[in-house]
Amino acid sequence: MITIKSEREIELMRESGRLTAMVLDMLETEIMPGMTTKRLDEMAEAFIRDHHAVPSFLNYAPKGDPDVTPYPATLCVSLNEEVVHGVPSPKRVIREGDIVSVDCGVYKGGYHGDSARTYVIGDIDRHVQQLVDVTRESLERGIEQAVEGNRLHDISAAVEEHARSFGFSIIENMVGHGIGSELHEDPAVPNYGKRHTGVKLREGMALAIEPMIAIGRSRRAVSKRGGWVAVTEDGKPSAHFEHTVIVRKGAAEVLTRSLLDRTAS
Ligand code: MF3
Ligand code: CO
Repeated sequence: MITIKSEREIELMRESGRLTAMVLDMLETEIMPGMTTKRLDEMAEAFIRDHHAVPSFLNYAPKGDPDVTPYPATLCVSLNEEVVHGVPSPKRVIREGDIVSVDCGVYKGGYHGDSARTYVIGDIDRHVQQLVDVTRESLERGIEQAVEGNRLHDISAAVEEHARSFGFSIIENMVGHGIGSELHEDPAVPNYGKRHTGVKLREGMALAIEPMIAIGRSRRAVSKRGGWVAVTEDGKPSAHFEHTVIVRKGAAEVLTRSLLDRTAS
């Protein structure tokens, strides 16, 4: 069931979304080579709790899958060929040339915000830089379609067309989602699909749109031995950007925009 959020609920979601953006802005200024992914996680958790909020991902357990251990951290930090759900570790050091996808969820006032960005560390390969830029742009193309009267897969198709036009691969087994009082609500928001299909979008729907795009041919992210982290099948780099948005008439309202005074997502 897809819920329509009232303006009162959206007001609360604005605060969760704004805090989520602030966490990613803070990490964007702090991240540097030599840092462990665990350190990023500690900074994010402290920041969230200082703002009287709770990390959405910590102890999260997907419903109906008793085999998966609850998620043990505040952030997902996924390096290079890791697509999503990298678990922060004191042994994992960020190096120059890496791309680092950081995904963060914040729960406050009964509602979640969810957003991700891929940070580039120092000088990186030109093709990898293009992957990151195109993934960010694909998310924007998707957001442009999140308006009343369109259909759900107009978002999906816009993301897919942009990524494919540069020869990149869509990770198809990971999708965006509705969001609100639950981190994951209906509908699933795929990053590929056919225009003019899917449910009709209505003002007040809240969606987390999150393209995961890769160099190479991998169409799936695969997890290793029941662990959380999911990697590309061919080991090639992957990028991830995500925003929480409200479907509106004319133009979507993005709740997790960066507050930094620059070109950030
Ligand atoms: N943004 C991701 C998602 O929507 C992060 C979830 S991590 C988890 O699936 F730990 F909460 F599962
Ligand atoms: Co999400």
